[in-house]
Amino acid sequence: MSIIQKAMQTVIRLMPDAASDPMIGADREIGKSLSRIDGPLKVTGQARFAAEVPLERLTYATLVHSTIARGRIATIDVAEAEAAPGVVLVMTYKNAPRMPPPLQMMVDAKGAAASSLPVMQDATIHWNGEPVAVVVAETQEQADYAATLVHVTYDVEQAATSFDHLKHKARTPASILGEPANITVGKAEAALGKAKFSIDQRYRTPHQNHAAIELHAATVLWEGNKLTVHDTTQMVNLTRSTLAAVFRIPEDNVHVLSPFVGGGFGNKGLWSHQILAAAAARLIDRPVRIVLSRAGVFRITGGRTLTEQRVALGADDDGPLTALIHTGFAGMTEHNDCPEQFTFPARHLYAAKSFLIDQKVIDLDMVANTFMRAPSESIGTFALESAIDELAEAMNVDPIALRRRIEPEKDPTSGLAFSSRNIVEAYRRGAERFGWDRRNAVPRSQRDGDWLIGYGVATATYPYYRMPGGAARIRLGVDGRAIVQMASHEMGMGTATTQAMHAAERLGLPVGNVTFEYGDTDLPPGTIAGGSSQTASIIAAVTAAADVLAADLIKLAGNDSPLAGLKPADVAMRDGGLCERDNPQKSESYVSILQRAGRDEISAEAAASMPLETQKYSMHSYGAQFCELRVNEVTGETRVTRWLGSFDTGRIVNPKTAASQFRGGIIMGLGLALMEDTVFDERTGRIMNPSLAEYHVPVHLDVPDIDVIWTDVSDPHSPMGVHGIGEIGITGVGAAVANAVYNATGKRIRDLPITLDKLM
Ligand code: MOS
Repeated sequence: MSIIQKAMQTVIRLMPDAASDPMIGADREIGKSLSRIDGPLKVTGQARFAAEVPLERLTYATLVHSTIARGRIATIDVAEAEAAPGVVLVMTYKNAPRMPPPLQMMVDAKGAAASSLPVMQDATIHWNGEPVAVVVAETQEQADYAATLVHVTYDVEQAATSFDHLKHKARTPASILGEPANITVGKAEAALGKAKFSIDQRYRTPHQNHAAIELHAATVLWEGNKLTVHDTTQMVNLTRSTLAAVFRIPEDNVHVLSPFVGGGFGNKGLWSHQILAAAAARLIDRPVRIVLSRAGVFRITGGRTLTEQRVALGADDDGPLTALIHTGFAGMTEHNDCPEQFTFPARHLYAAKSFLIDQKVIDLDMVANTFMRAPSESIGTFALESAIDELAEAMNVDPIALRRRIEPEKDPTSGLAFSSRNIVEAYRRGAERFGWDRRNAVPRSQRDGDWLIGYGVATATYPYYRMPGGAARIRLGVDGRAIVQMASHEMGMGTATTQAMHAAERLGLPVGNVTFEYGDTDLPPGTIAGGSSQTASIIAAVTAAADVLAADLIKLAGNDSPLAGLKPADVAMRDGGLCERDNPQKSESYVSILQRAGRDEISAEAAASMPLETQKYSMHSYGAQFCELRVNEVTGETRVTRWLGSFDTGRIVNPKTAASQFRGGIIMGLGLALMEDTVFDERTGRIMNPSLAEYHVPVHLDVPDIDVIWTDVSDPHSPMGVHGIGEIGITGVGAAVANAVYNATGKRIRDLPITLDKLM
């Protein structure tokens, strides 16, 4: 153990648990169903998104994309485009400003870019779709038209575009999100060979693309050496630091605003378009707006990469699994670092006497892949939870009973205690509510005319994360209202609402008296809206700021206050003021304290504590997904008819927004299970279905009644007992569908998506 690790262990031992947070158990605002505070602005069209910010002398940009996957630009002829009506600039690598490569997310602490490739700096082509020119014009239509007049020829080189043919070149990444790529416990292959029951299968999942309703867009403005970017992003602060590095200006000179995001699932980060728009704006000294076309989103922003996974399980008549093997390959590029952590669920879910975990990546010439809702927990659980179902059948036991049998007492690979884990209870409640006992384990045993009916179940799981580096400011006014500020993100999931609720509870104010301000780098630094980490990360920062505020208020109250002589630890923030914790009659209101001090406002700012809880405990969210579906024997089409998600995700702040998050995740999971598939032409590396007409996502008729329930058990080791819930909903869905399809038809589909051709 290194000195740093030893010091860290000491810090961890000394760290008080969040269990001491008096807000755990308080329920004045927390737990009420509150409609989204930003909802009316959105439905009345008053919310202004990144592509809607009006600016004087605004210009519009369109990208020209490469049509080869690897090689060099031989010639690029822009004369015709430059002569087209309204064209202000055609920018290529020849006239683009010199810019260093952007800082890469997960690699550089200040990085927001998915890829470390330089942006439009030379003639080299790295993927089919890479921007080769930016056309800027007076109107969007003029730019779009002129972009068709840019003529490019290429020197084509052999590209790496076939996953299957490049397995011999697979490499082991240095780490998987900071975790080891391999874990070996015991001798899993040998144990598998000796097991009384075993399964050993391969599962495949395809590329998938992000399909947020709002297209990626930015409106950028230079004023001298100061850059303002109206962006749609999950990471305003990292976007600022990366743009500052690319344009070699101080961070303070970059202002990023993102008050509204029309859906973000992991790839509303920094791609080449914001950099290109800012570079072009600099050249023409006018503001530039760039809105990617839907095809542009497919071509220059990455999504989920493809995988081939092996899951092999061994078991005897009772006790834990004797062997748990989860290995496989994911496609990646040499210039990004997103190896798809599909083995993460297998590391924490089940008790096994031996483990073999091994992940490799295959470098391809494609747009950098990136995070996509529960990046690999979604597809990792497809493989693992399908395999558990296959093992249960081989053993002739109920799949829920099998999971109960192999429920571990502590984390099976890290050895850490679980902070909070009620997965057996989630299954019990789910099974009862869903009517799991009506399932017949024999495939093809339920039918309704041509429709075969099946039931399936699978475990949902997603890690608990909390990001360091955030800070919050609380401004408390003499009018008894509070403004809470942190540069975090509202992408439609309810952040603004749940954080107003938390701050209200924390400060002892009605929720109507609290405004949460976010989405602007002028505010105290926020953390990314990713990894389902925001809720806990913001709560930790606001809690720290509230502690500072309470201490400052006691000082301000002074000796004439009923609070005189109390220490910060003795007071609570309640009913619009401070009171003695054990004697609430002894109190003074905020308004009174500020009035007596002759102050309009008091402001307190503090950084969140370090997220040390994740080093002390194995922290995850859990759930049980129950699916009922029918498969038409004549056409092979699958129709999901009923869904229940039973979750165990810590304490729920707002049941209404939480239910929407769970449902949204499940719906995205139905897309993963049945439709979504970004098709690459392996000869050219070109995406062949870059539109929502050909890349299918679930629409209303594809979505059944979705019932969601949760345990609502506070995690004693997370801020206020919460876990993030943005991603867990999608996990387990692919397997629950595949398991139900098997139950309906007797066909085991191990290759997503489960389209009708695979069932005929
Ligand atoms: Mo999520 S894939 O971290 O937005």
